[in-house]
Amino acid sequence: MKKNYRWGIIAPGKMAAKFTAGLKLLENAELYAVASRDAGRAEKFAADRGFSKSYGSYRELAEDPELEIVYIASPHSLHHEHVIQCLNNGKAVLCEKAFAINRREVEDMISLSRRKKIFLMEALWPPFQPLYKKAVEILDSGTLGKILHLHAWFSFIPPFDPLDRKFNIGLGSGSLLDIGIYPVIDALTFMGVPESVKACASFGPTESEESVSAILRYGDGRTATIYSSFKTNSGIGCEILCEKGNLTLSRGRDMNQRIILSLAGKEPETMVFSPAAMGYHWEAEEVMNCLDEGRTESNIVPLSFSIDLIDTLDRIRAEAGIVFPQDRL
Ligand SMILES: NC(=O)c1ccc[n+]([C@@H]2O[C@H](COP(=O)([O-])OP(=O)(O)OC[C@H]3O[C@@H](n4cnc5c(N)ncnc54)[C@H](OP(=O)(O)O)[C@@H]3O)[C@@H](O)[C@H]2O)c1
Repeated sequence: MKKNYRWGIIAPGKMAAKFTAGLKLLENAELYAVASRDAGRAEKFAADRGFSKSYGSYRELAEDPELEIVYIASPHSLHHEHVIQCLNNGKAVLCEKAFAINRREVEDMISLSRRKKIFLMEALWPPFQPLYKKAVEILDSGTLGKILHLHAWFSFIPPFDPLDRKFNIGLGSGSLLDIGIYPVIDALTFMGVPESVKACASFGPTESEESVSAILRYGDGRTATIYSSFKTNSGIGCEILCEKGNLTLSRGRDMNQRIILSLAGKEPETMVFSPAAMGYHWEAEEVMNCLDEGRTESNIVPLSFSIDLIDTLDRIRAEAGIVFPQDRL
């Protein structure tokens, strides 16, 4: 029989609600506690979703001796503080993307996790999805030959609110860390770390970045282009152009996934996947599998990938002139 784990949630916003729906699919995940800055909000989230306890501060949750795993879904600018607080209290941590604001913060979190030998993982959705696994399988099989170019994009138009984390620089705003991170994950997963990066961005009324385009250059003249924006409505997708054909990956806002394999001279083949709970439960399952095996790091989302990811995001930001207050610390 599998060991049960007591889960806690820090920052019960929109993403925490989706993640909780995933947790509920897992028999060995106990919905234990929720913490909000506001006790009433925590109490309501806990009551609506069946958590046993609620707290009006994140610190109280982190210090609860019964709690085993914390899922952090605060704005990116607070991830560093919340991860450190939980690790210092001996809790295993699954923290939302972007893992933190910059490489310095991410390295700090990772070094504490390694020093204390406590589990830490960035909550990255793609590596667990059938869409990604299928794409890796097809590309590894060699059917399509070498990847020559990848183009990936993610844009939608959220309502403008200067206080919202998507527009408030103090909270790590902008399209890049929120949604542009997915095209960057595509490039890193399928092509690796780029040799060089060129990028430009445009900025909105709060001086927050609202659109980014980047060209990533690899050896042998191979390239990737990525685009993210809060000003257009492209949806989410990735085209991988190879020597013998193309692979097109896309997903809806409901996280349903589609892959089209187009081999030269053949009819395109379409595959569709619709995971339960938008596929978020697999990240939680991986945390518990790792803890069962006494591991402090996932092989599916290794901490080295999180370093490559934040490093590439930092390189794009440096090129495009996207600066956060935390960069000046
Ligand atoms: N993996 C994915 O597919 C996915 C999708 C969406 C978002 N995310 C990530 O999840 C995180 C949260 O995103 P979200 O869309 O859930 O955001 P959200 O709805 O704005 O929720 C964030 C929560 O953080 C808490 N918070 C603490 N300090 C805050 C502050 N100074 N200002 C605003 N909120 C503060 C608030 O809860 P209390 O005040 O109640 O404590 C708030 O409800 C982000 O890092 C985002 O990138 C991931």
